[in-house]
Amino acid sequence: MKQFLSLDDVPNLSALVSQGLQLKKDPFSDQDLGKNKTLGLIFLNPSLRTRLSTQKAAYNLGMSILTMDFDKDGWGLETSDGTVMNGKAGEHIKEAAAVVAQYCDILAIRCFPLLKNKEQDYAEKLLLDFQRYSKIPLISLESNTLHPLQSLTDVMTIEERKKTAKPKVVLTWAPHIKALPQAVANSFSQWMNQAEVDFVITHPQGYDLAEKFRGNAKVTYDQNEAFSGADFIYAKNWSSYESYGQILTQDPKWMITPEKMILTNQAEFMHCLPARRNLVVADAVLDSPQSIVIEQSGNREFAAQAVLKSILEEIS
Ligand code: CP
Repeated sequence: MKQFLSLDDVPNLSALVSQGLQLKKDPFSDQDLGKNKTLGLIFLNPSLRTRLSTQKAAYNLGMSILTMDFDKDGWGLETSDGTVMNGKAGEHIKEAAAVVAQYCDILAIRCFPLLKNKEQDYAEKLLLDFQRYSKIPLISLESNTLHPLQSLTDVMTIEERKKTAKPKVVLTWAPHIKALPQAVANSFSQWMNQAEVDFVITHPQGYDLAEKFRGNAKVTYDQNEAFSGADFIYAKNWSSYESYGQILTQDPKWMITPEKMILTNQAEFMHCLPARRNLVVADAVLDSPQSIVIEQSGNREFAAQAVLKSILEEIS
């Protein structure tokens, strides 16, 4: 694999999923592959799971790591071309990306959307500028519109835990107090469209995802109908795509509760985390044996390792 910005970069999804699950059984099988290779981790936004799991994955492969919180420790980044830099930004992305790339063999970046302008966010300018000016393989640690490392993890988790050949997987919107990006939902939907699952999305009216990520998913505004017979419930809040970045409702009836889980086929509960308890999901669900969120987050390490291994094999 040459880079990992979305599912489009994955030549063979089932092979990558199998690789991730194989690495889980034997994480130190390629300890020399990353020798003398450096992974640069750039964060413009907070992270717990993505940061630590990607670091651990790189260590498992024998890589060195450089991490920088650009939002706290870097110069303010200018991304426009031809601008007079007499404002807050002290460094242009052209130099910043090129400089960082000299110290690294693979670069990974997290950059969230501003949720003010749909066209600008969905153009992914910052991510693509880093790709353009770094000229080394780039991994998305979650961008404006997608979170592919999370989605690979989610496909791996469903693959290892499914009890039927084609499980029913439901992506359900849940309430939140903040306007959150569509990235996790977009990405999960994109990957589920390529997986052997019966995929359903449920959300209140006005929360339809972009058609290119929604794909062939069945969409219903009736959460109870969606939950009926489900094998996996994947909860996530996102702000509106149509009324871009807006919170249209915080209806607590959409929270995931034990009463909702009873409608399912004893479904396992998934969430990318962090999850706000008793807002997105009730304690009684998150603390129940049906919740697999901790096991799911554990798989982040092996998803990242499968991606790094594939890129290292390409550049070695
Ligand atoms: N799921 C996820 O990406 O978690 P972090 O934001 O903590 O990295």
